[in-house]
Amino acid sequence: MHLLQSVAVLTLAATSLAFPNGAPRCKITESIIAAGHKLQQGSLGLVMQLPASYTPGGAAIPITVAAANGSAVSFAGVLAYVTPGNIMDSSLTAVPIGTPNVPSAGGIMQHVGTFANLAAQNLRPQTAAVCTSQNVTNDADASTITHSQPLTAQTPFTVMWTPPAANAGPVTVNMVISSGSSRTPWQIVPSGQIQSTAGAAPAAPAAPATTPAAKKNNNKKTKKNKAKKAAKGAAAKVLNAVKAAAAKAAKKAKKAKK
Ligand SMILES: *[C@@H]1O[C@H](CO)[C@@H](O)[C@H](O)[C@H]1NC(C)=O
Ligand SMILES: *[C@@H]1O[C@H](CO)[C@@H](O)[C@H](O)[C@H]1NC(C)=O
Repeated sequence: MHLLQSVAVLTLAATSLAFPNGAPRCKITESIIAAGHKLQQGSLGLVMQLPASYTPGGAAIPITVAAANGSAVSFAGVLAYVTPGNIMDSSLTAVPIGTPNVPSAGGIMQHVGTFANLAAQNLRPQTAAVCTSQNVTNDADASTITHSQPLTAQTPFTVMWTPPAANAGPVTVNMVISSGSSRTPWQIVPSGQIQSTAGAAPAAPAAPATTPAAKKNNNKKTKKNKAKKAAKGAAAKVLNAVKAAAAKAAKKAKKAKK
């Protein structure tokens, strides 16, 4: 009985974002973090502060997490990565892998660029095996980062991110912050986008450019604005599909409980 109990406790600790030596995952999945922390997501009042653009192969740029009201919020754990496209990864990881009509259901596989100067901030690259097991293709190990020990960090907190050499088009910064260990508040910080000074990626990773409307418009430089509109519409469609699938899953789960 005792042994079983301690095994259960160990398992739960291992799934917690605030595991002392870093998050045990390579993707941000709300339901899994909630189970690990034994606490639903709450708000720490955090937002991202990002530069408008990056230059492929260019200088590192600052990625900052801050309290919306400017106060100093203390935190202990972090998991962060940057994905191509403009969709917050946790909205995709909320949808089961292979869900029809949801491109990248289960999360974007590619994590781009590399975070710099980690050791000085008690951060580390996520373990390669952890990322591989979740099908993540990191540009480099430091494309996905977590804490190397419980942080005594405060907002505003800045980590430098070196863009990929190849143009990845607009990218999305994904980050979850934990204030402490199990049963302490945590928050997936609302994602922000960073544009590329080189424009759209050559082979668009997300749905927009694959829609006939977007393709047609992309061919006409003079109709740049129209193309932008079409891409936005397609992105909204994907998000709606994601939401619908998530709602459906929730409904199903409710039914199963009854
Ligand atoms: C600012 O926001 C933080 C986090 O939500 C909160 O704990 C704090 O009380 C707020 N401070 C003020 C001065 O509103
Ligand atoms: C990894 O990819 C394989 C093959 O596409 C798939 O069957 C599997 O479900 C994926 N696993 C995860 C954790 O994403």
